[in-house]
Amino acid sequence: MSNIVVLISGNGSNLQAIIDSVQNGAIDGCVSAVISNKPDVYGLERAEKAGIPAIAVDHSQFSSRSDFEQALIQTIDQYQPNLVVLAGFMRILSSEFVQHYLGTMLNIHPSLLPKYPGLNTHKRVLENGDKEHGTSVHFVTAELDGGPIIAQRSFHVTADDNEESLQKKIQQQEHKLYPEVVSWFCSGRLQFKDGKAWLDQQPVSIL
Ligand code: GAR
Repeated sequence: MSNIVVLISGNGSNLQAIIDSVQNGAIDGCVSAVISNKPDVYGLERAEKAGIPAIAVDHSQFSSRSDFEQALIQTIDQYQPNLVVLAGFMRILSSEFVQHYLGTMLNIHPSLLPKYPGLNTHKRVLENGDKEHGTSVHFVTAELDGGPIIAQRSFHVTADDNEESLQKKIQQQEHKLYPEVVSWFCSGRLQFKDGKAWLDQQPVSIL
């Protein structure tokens, strides 16, 4: 059974979707810890309610990124995870950190990557008049939001959409997609090999 550590920075609705899927048996794994870089976020409460260790490693208490990341690695590695899941984790990670978990760390990003890495994705979609928007799950590599894409879900942007409505639509999709991808990893169907994502022994090609 896979051992999952989830990193968050906020509300944790994707975390909740993963916890629910573990509880209903859709994911063959267990969430052994939830770690936030911000104390007092709702995601930590969600973890506590589910009986999962909820830990804050507050980045603002460290004088450098490297000290913060060392503490984060120490905390994560106590749980010896096979999989680290970034679920709304809003800190940029160094290449050293990423290398430590290469092939075993996933991220969900609110855009159809490679479009719109970084922040404010909904705003940029609206400004550019895009007709399509969506969410992507990818393996984390040193390039920000640039690792191999595993799966995406998209929807049509309508004339009355605003940032809030786009966020709502994206999250509905994320809450289905992320647990599904995590379940693929936990059942051994999803791998990272030769810098690519592989599903059922086939390289994933999106684009
Ligand atoms: C999610 O929509 C996720 O795609 C986004 O943060 C939200 C977290 O929501 N992630 C990023 O922007 C990462 N660059 P949640 O805390 O309710 O799961």
